[in-house]
Amino acid sequence: MRLITSIPEMKAFSTEARKEGRTIAFVPTMGYLHEGHRRLLIEAKKLGDATILSVFVNPSQFGANEDFAKYPRDMERDKAIAVEHGAEVLFAPEVFEMYPKGYGTFVDVPELADKLCGKSRPGHFRAVATIVAKFFNIVMPHKAIFGLKDYQQWLIIKKMVKDTDMDVEVVAVETVREADGLAMSSRNVYLSASERRAAAIIPKAMAAAREAVIKGERRGAAIEEIVKKIMEKEPSAVIDYVSVCDTDNLDGVEVIQGRALLAMAIRIGKARLIDNCLLSV
Ligand code: PAJ
Repeated sequence: MRLITSIPEMKAFSTEARKEGRTIAFVPTMGYLHEGHRRLLIEAKKLGDATILSVFVNPSQFGANEDFAKYPRDMERDKAIAVEHGAEVLFAPEVFEMYPKGYGTFVDVPELADKLCGKSRPGHFRAVATIVAKFFNIVMPHKAIFGLKDYQQWLIIKKMVKDTDMDVEVVAVETVREADGLAMSSRNVYLSASERRAAAIIPKAMAAAREAVIKGERRGAAIEEIVKKIMEKEPSAVIDYVSVCDTDNLDGVEVIQGRALLAMAIRIGKARLIDNCLLSV
């Protein structure tokens, strides 16, 4: 496996792979890889001839009071996992390589970026769309693999690709969960042992919401209330948002017809945890 840190070198590799007629499958990450990221790498291996993994903790997608400096990092372990999954390249540029002095172009999908997580993280999705657009130009993948755990992010990337006619297929992978249902996340390391136990309330609340839908509840607000009531039982859980919303435009849904997304962000201790699931009627 090659570790590449320079943009020209990454472009040269991908240009060559494309010339050879090989399909490039790309997995963008911020590293500190876990089982969820592994699942994306497994999918990449299935879909392409050359797997490229990027590890880049993108400073611009962290708010001023967020955890950029403290975000967990372990490049040696990430390298080993990349090798294990047969990645041909680990692209890990430094911040100055991606954002040289004077950088000033941004990609925005405001229709989707200002909702749900965008409300408490202004500018976050603009930074995500921008860095992913840059990665797509540098890595030139045929396929790019994203996790549905970050559903809003996946939707924004899909729209960016469609609206700007980018030549890349955006592939989705289901959320990988711990035994108690908590979605895997690099940020779970922020949880103390007792907070980690408390975090199980999130999948529990989602299960209760799904159960209510099975029993006939269709009203978005009533389902949100069920989730909030369960969260209130856990004193360390602070709700950022809970929303039953449209799976395409993320607008709140009054009455579910067909399907809807249940999405939430919950703060437990220092961690802000997000999760979502589909509600089908
Ligand atoms: P990061 O949080 O490292 O996630 C990288 C990819 O892994 C994303 O597509 C995310 O949805 C997926 N992922 C994370 N946890 C998952 C889980 N439990 N199950 C399945 N997939 C999971 O998302 C980012 O990085 C960044 O915003 C990035 C797109 C790299 C841009 O900086």
